[in-house]
Formats: sequence, structure tokens, C-alpha cells
Amino acid sequence: MSHIILGIESSCDDTSAAVVKDAYLLSNVIASQAVHKDFGGVVPELASRAHEQNIVPVVSRALELAGVTADQIDAIAFTRGPGLLGSLLVGTSFAKTLSIALNKPMVMVNHLQGHILAGFVRQYDKPVCEPSFPFLCLLVSGGNSQIVKVSSPTEYEILGQTIDDAVGEAFDKCSKMMGLGYPGGPIIDKLAKQGDPERFKFSKPHIPGLDYSFSGVKTSLLYFVRDEIAKDPDFMEKNKEDICASFQKTLIDILLDKLVKAAKQTGIKEIAIGGGVSANSALRERITLEGKKRGWNTYLPEFKFTTDNAAMIAIAGYFRFLAGERAPLDVAPVSRLSDF
Ligand code: KG4
Repeated sequence: MSHIILGIESSCDDTSAAVVKDAYLLSNVIASQAVHKDFGGVVPELASRAHEQNIVPVVSRALELAGVTADQIDAIAFTRGPGLLGSLLVGTSFAKTLSIALNKPMVMVNHLQGHILAGFVRQYDKPVCEPSFPFLCLLVSGGNSQIVKVSSPTEYEILGQTIDDAVGEAFDKCSKMMGLGYPGGPIIDKLAKQGDPERFKFSKPHIPGLDYSFSGVKTSLLYFVRDEIAKDPDFMEKNKEDICASFQKTLIDILLDKLVKAAKQTGIKEIAIGGGVSANSALRERITLEGKKRGWNTYLPEFKFTTDNAAMIAIAGYFRFLAGERAPLDVAPVSRLSDF
């Protein structure tokens, strides 16, 4: 019997709706919010207002593109958290309203697990290429940096995670402080392509186990740039490509060092990456090379599934629906992962 799942994502600044039928993607609509550009970051109140405006047209369009009517849906999957509370509230309330109006069940999804399962979204025009279980996922986004052992679509164990900043946050904050713009990840990625990654050295953390830390390297970069600008006001302009390449290399070294450790400790050679930072071209190259060297099977998500999207929420919801999970109508969104 086939199952059709409508996914709704509203955890940050993208309003998205997608439809999957038995793991195959029928539609994936994303409305990004330009309103935050002038502020150098996401403004939570503006984000929730924009979600309110976008959600009805986005869901309608997703159903239309999928060629399904609302009453053909078997369940509504929505992001419960983590994320911005006001933004999550819009998606959650909309899912509840739809659930009551259509008399269809709801399934709640952890946004991070959505990122981890993004590679399981099947497309009719592409070959299926999915990690087998158990696999390790390097989950790298604006709010999280984790190494997760995934034993099944509903079983997750966090083996290591950041004790301070997320890697995406390090990209974003440093880019902003260096006057390069927001969001920092894609900007640094682009500039780094023309730079020498070996030119500058930034201090690396010494954290035991599989946990990460990115605040030290961020501070090391910012002090370095400040001191050099004091000597030569044009230092940044003259060297930004090399600074970006060296900084990016340091972040990737830190990420891969612990990932290699985790693979050795668990003996798992199925390795995936997910989250916004998995769009980083140097990280994708390095993890592929590392995989070849170590006999891993590496799985990189398509670019369109690296950033926030409802396709990954629909697929995570699909697996949870099959596992018999249903969300109660009094479910409340949660902003932090620890509250899930
Ligand atoms: O997963 P995501 O869209 O949102 C969260 O749930 O956090 O990730 C956003 C993060 C931002 O920090 C952004 O700078 C980063 O992903 N990012 C990148 C790249 N594209 C987006 N970081 C490095 N290189 C990129 N190409």
C-alpha cells in the first residue's frame, strides 16, 4: 500500500512544504525570506511573520506540483524543533489545523534528524544511493555540529557534539566580523577557492573524546585579523582569500579529525554528511578523499537538500509514520534539542 506524506518545515527563515510518496519526492517548495538581508542575520519576529504569510501559498503549491489533493494525504509531518520558537509555532499550528480539518494524523520530526535523512529522499529520475544502517552522519549546520550514529531511521545516538559554537556559526560570525557579509559559509567558501589554505595557521582545540569546539579558532582568527589590521589597514582587503582558505581548512581539519576517530572507534565505514555546512565545496572534497583513503562509502547530499527544506522533513516523517508514530494534538514546538 502506498503512503503520501506532506512535510512542513518552518524552523528558521525558510518556509517549505514537500510531498513524498513512498520515499519518492513529488514536490518540494521553498520560500526564502529576503527580509533579513539588511540585518546581517535572522530576526526571529520577522521570520515568524513571514512564515505566516508564506505557509498557505507554499503548502498549496506543493500539493499542486505533486498532483495530489489534500484528502489524498496519509499524514502531515512537521518540524517540532529545534529552531526559532515563533517560526516553529507557525508550522506546528498549521499542521494541527490541517490535521483537524482533514482528519489526518500528524507526525512530529526533529529537524536535525531531517538533515540526517535528507539522503533518503528518492527521486524518480535519479539512481537510489543511500547509506546502509548503521551509518555515521557528520551533521553540520548553523546551530549544531554533531557526529551521530544512525542505527535505523528512528534510532540515533549522538557520539560527539560541539561544546560551544557550531561550525556554521564560526563561518557566519567570522565572516560578519571581517566585514565579508552574511551568511558567512557560502561567502568564505567562494573566497577560499582563490586562496592558499596553508598560508596562515590558527589554533586548534584539544577537546577529549568526540566532542567539538569552534569558539577558540574563531577567537584566534579575529585577534589575528585585528592585530594585522592595526599594522596595515588594508591587510584584510589584500589577503582575504588566503585568510578564508586557511580558516576554512582549519575548521575542516577539526571536523574530519573527530569523524575519523568516530569511524575507527565504531568500525563503521558508511559515512554521510548533512546540514547547511555540508554544501561547503572544500568539505565535500576532503571527505570524499578521506573516504577513498580509508575505504569508506561516503554520501554527500545534493545541494538542494543541504539547506532547510521540507523534503527531508517529509521523508523523516514517512519513516516515523511507518513505525506507527503519531503526534498528539496538544504537541508544542521546542526550541532546543535537549527539550525534544
Ligand atoms: O542547516 P542550515 O540551513 O540551518 C540551520 O538549521 O542551522 O545551515 C545554515 C548554515 C549557515 O551557518 C551557513 O553559513 C552554512 O550553513 N552554509 C555554509 C555553506 N552554505 C551554507 N557553510 C560553509 N560553506 C557553504 N557553502
